[in-house]
Amino acid sequence: MNERVRQARFITFEGIDGAGKSSQIAALVALLQGRGLSVEQTREPGGTPLGERLRELLLHEPLHLETEAMLMFAARREHLAARILPALAEGRWVVSDRFSDATYAYQVGGRGLAEDRFDALESWVHPGFQPDLTLVFDLAPEVAAARVAGTGAAPDRFEREQRDFFERVRQGYLARARRAPERIRVIDASRTPEQIRAELASIVTERWFA
Ligand code: TYD
Repeated sequence: MNERVRQARFITFEGIDGAGKSSQIAALVALLQGRGLSVEQTREPGGTPLGERLRELLLHEPLHLETEAMLMFAARREHLAARILPALAEGRWVVSDRFSDATYAYQVGGRGLAEDRFDALESWVHPGFQPDLTLVFDLAPEVAAARVAGTGAAPDRFEREQRDFFERVRQGYLARARRAPERIRVIDASRTPEQIRAELASIVTERWFA
């Protein structure tokens, strides 16, 4: 194994609710483990005991927009300190279901948080640090909503939002991707799970295992 392969990487999955990240996260983790890598799978909000408690509040309690953004970053600060950074330092890859691009898409794009508020929080919590690769699952909100409804689970505070909210979230992700095209790859999530899995495998292989 060469030096490039040994360096642990931080990969994040993003997209509107119902875009189909979950099964693809499991597949990518299995692919990395199949290469003999040690991998931690985690999520936001969450990933630590404190983060999971904040997740409960964030998903179910009505909150002021800025409170919501600050709590997302508070959970993230803990997640970085207690889990993400130690894992990477010890050579374990980290795969997270969401990170700061979600705050940009949902709180700035979806809810209208001022962009300079987001910038201030992001540069406080992780100055100069970003995922090595971010996979944005892009899908029309109406298709994603049908998938969420199909699960039969009770919708949380975000999943109850209307189509125009998710359209703004989607545009938030696409705007962010245009600004960091090397890091953020937009994945057409309307295709079959097999097609998406193959694309993710080829992105990761080209980037780190070619
Ligand atoms: P998600 O991770 O999609 O969980 P599940 O698949 O169990 O529903 O849901 C978390 C919700 O939190 C999702 O609707 C997006 C929202 N969210 C934000 O609004 N901002 C953020 O910074 C993060 C991390 C999540």
